[in-house]
Order: sequence, then C-alpha cells, then structure tokens
Amino acid sequence: MEKKLRVGILGATGMVGQRFISLLENHPWFEVVTVAASPRSAGKTYEEAVGGRWKMDTPMPEGVKKLIVKNVNEVEEVASTVDFVFSAVDMTKDEIKAIEEAYAKTETPVVSNNSAHRWTKDVPMVVPEINAAHFDLIKTQKERLGTTRGFIAVKPNCSIQSYTPALAAWKEFGPKEVVVTTYQAISGAGKTFKDWPEMIENIIPYIGGEEEKSEKEPLRVLGTLENGEIKLAEEPKITCQCLRVPVLNGHTAAVFINFEKKPTKEQLIEKLESFKGFPQEAELPSAPKQFIQYLSEDDRPQVKADVNYENGMGVSIGRLREDSMYDYKFIGLSHNTVRGAAGGAVLCAEALTAKGYIQAK
Ligand SMILES: NC(=O)c1ccc[n+]([C@@H]2O[C@H](COP(=O)([O-])OP(=O)(O)OC[C@H]3O[C@@H](n4cnc5c(N)ncnc54)[C@H](OP(=O)(O)O)[C@@H]3O)[C@@H](O)[C@H]2O)c1
Repeated sequence: MEKKLRVGILGATGMVGQRFISLLENHPWFEVVTVAASPRSAGKTYEEAVGGRWKMDTPMPEGVKKLIVKNVNEVEEVASTVDFVFSAVDMTKDEIKAIEEAYAKTETPVVSNNSAHRWTKDVPMVVPEINAAHFDLIKTQKERLGTTRGFIAVKPNCSIQSYTPALAAWKEFGPKEVVVTTYQAISGAGKTFKDWPEMIENIIPYIGGEEEKSEKEPLRVLGTLENGEIKLAEEPKITCQCLRVPVLNGHTAAVFINFEKKPTKEQLIEKLESFKGFPQEAELPSAPKQFIQYLSEDDRPQVKADVNYENGMGVSIGRLREDSMYDYKFIGLSHNTVRGAAGGAVLCAEALTAKGYIQAK
C-alpha cells in the first residue's frame, strides 16, 4: 500500500482500545491518527487520559502518546480526520447503535468490536477465515443508509472463537449437537487482577448475556448469504454455560459434539489443520499462517503455553477423543482480546481493504 489509511479509534482509552493501539503500532496498511473517548478524556493527551490504566504488556507506542483525545460524540469532527474507525466504546446498546450509524453516515466505515449491531440484518458479523463472503451484505446496508462508502461491519463475541472455527472446519461431517462450557478470562470484562481482586482464586458462574451470544452467534457466522440476507445455519444446536475464571487472557472451551456422519479422529484433525480462508489466501498482514493448530499432548492447549499462538490470532485445539455419550469431545483456546476482540476487528478491516470496501477518502 503506497500511503497508509488513516485510522481513528473510538473508545481508545479502554482495554480493547489499548489493544487496537498496540496491534496497530507499525501496521503496514493502517496508521492511528485519531483517538477518541468519553468527554472525561477529551482534550487531554492520550498519555494523560489513560494515566495508570495502561493494561498492555508492551509500552504505550510513542506515536499516540501526544495525540489529543477527541470526544467520541463529536462525530463530524472525528470523522473528518480519518479514512475509517474501529469502535470499542462502552456505552448503552442504543447509544452505540446510534453513534456507529452516525459515523457510517459521514461516509466513514466502522469496524466494530461491540455487540450492538451484531443482529442488525444488513450488518455483516464476520470471522474472516469463515465467512468473509458475508461482507457482501454491505451493498444492501449502504442502500439503507444512503451512503456510498460508509457502513458498519462487526466481529462476533470473544467466547465463540474457541470452538466455532472447529465447527466450520468440520462442516462436511454435519455438526449436529454441541454442548459447550467456556472458561473466560477476566480481560474479557476489561479487567486485570489489580482492578478485580475478587477474581483471585475464584470462579464466577455467570457472565451477563454471554450464554445467549455463545449459542446464537455461531449460527449467524456459519449461515449463508441469500438474496441480501443471512440465512442462519439450522445446525448445530448449541447449548452453553459461561464461567469467569482466574485467568488474565485466553478463553478456553470444553466441547462435546455429535455429527450427522461420524468421522474418524484422523479426519477431524486433518480438517482442522488444513482449514484456511480469505485471510490466508489474500496473505493479509495480521492473518495467522495456520489458523487452527492441533496439539496432541494430553495436557494442551494450556492458557500459558498456547494463548499467544500465531501472535494471539490462531486457535488451539486439543484433547480430541471419542466420548461415551457424544461422538467426540475436545478443548479449544483462543486469545479473547486479540483474536476475540481487537485483532479480529483488525483482520476484518484488512479483509475489507483487500476487497475494496475501505479506501482512502
Ligand atoms: N474486553 C474484551 O475482551 C471485550 C471483548 C469483546 C467486546 N468487548 C466490548 O468492547 C467494548 C469496550 O470494552 P472495554 O473492555 O475496552 O471497556 P473499557 O475498558 O471500559 O473502555 C471503554 C471505552 O469507552 C469509553 N466510554 C465510556 N463511556 C463513554 C461514553 N459515555 N461516551 C463515550 N465514550 C465512552 C471510555 O472512555 P473513558 O476512558 O474516557 O471513560 C473507554 O475509552 C464494550 O462494549 C465491551 O462489551 C470487550
């Protein structure tokens, strides 16, 4: 790319916003030129606004420290400085819906980490290896919004990335019934152990709204685009329990599965290891070379050993074995704030750029 695209981050001071800032340092296509957050942060330098809240392992990139934080609500002002935005603001669902649409209507593409638009009919919800074809919905959306280049695209919830890629890889065997328990990291709630000490040596058996998302969102991702709409996948039926566990980064899923046609274990592993999609074909900058790794050791995947596989963009599967009640059971792991949040959104933006939906203004 001759000249980098100018990027704004809405909610730049938060946990996911900080992850965007870190991932985009030295990005070959995108350059963060604008950071925006609540009116509380507006007017301060990014460094001042974040203060002691920097939660990344790597230092704050020099290039953003002195940027003056803008107010997310000043849409025209923010939009005038960028080619597109990533959205990671924490507001009410209705407020997020309205503000993301307001940005799209200024002809600014919005790639969102938020759940507000995940079920808006003409908004694509994409894991680029699985359903990059759903980006074609944008044409329908633009007609509704009356825009030529502005639109909204979203990525799904962080919990589903630990098992949905396997369901996609095994599509030809007809996954029929799936029983999942997720073990979710505290960074998924925007927290570290410093600001959530109650989580040390604790498990909380409730994450608001998460079970519904974990059961339903895979059906949209695995669905097909027909006549300008997503037809949800009818199978598998998914039931899920979501637990918050004392882990900083990394969502684990323990899964039982039944198939229409029961494959062999070797067939299942072969499909995982050979699964790839648009990001690998187009060699997108953030694409993992191998999306899914299969680990044969009995004690893998482990959060500490495997969460950063492929820079946090890959998915690790292990412990695949036959079960006494279901056909098989296995364990999945993915990085919730990289693949499951900011990294997944960056990969969506790269795919949208490669497909020509995002261009310089
Ligand atoms: N953490 C995860 O792994 C994860 C995964 C998937 C989805 N999400 C979703 O991503 C969003 C951000 O999550 P987070 O964990 O990064 O949250 P967070 O750390 O609390 O950050 C929230 C961001 O939104 C801004 N904000 C808050 N209230 C605002 C308002 N009234 N107007 C404008 N900006 C406002 C904050 O600005 P100030 O600093 O100025 O307050 C901050 O930049 C949430 O919707 C969350 O549900 C998070």
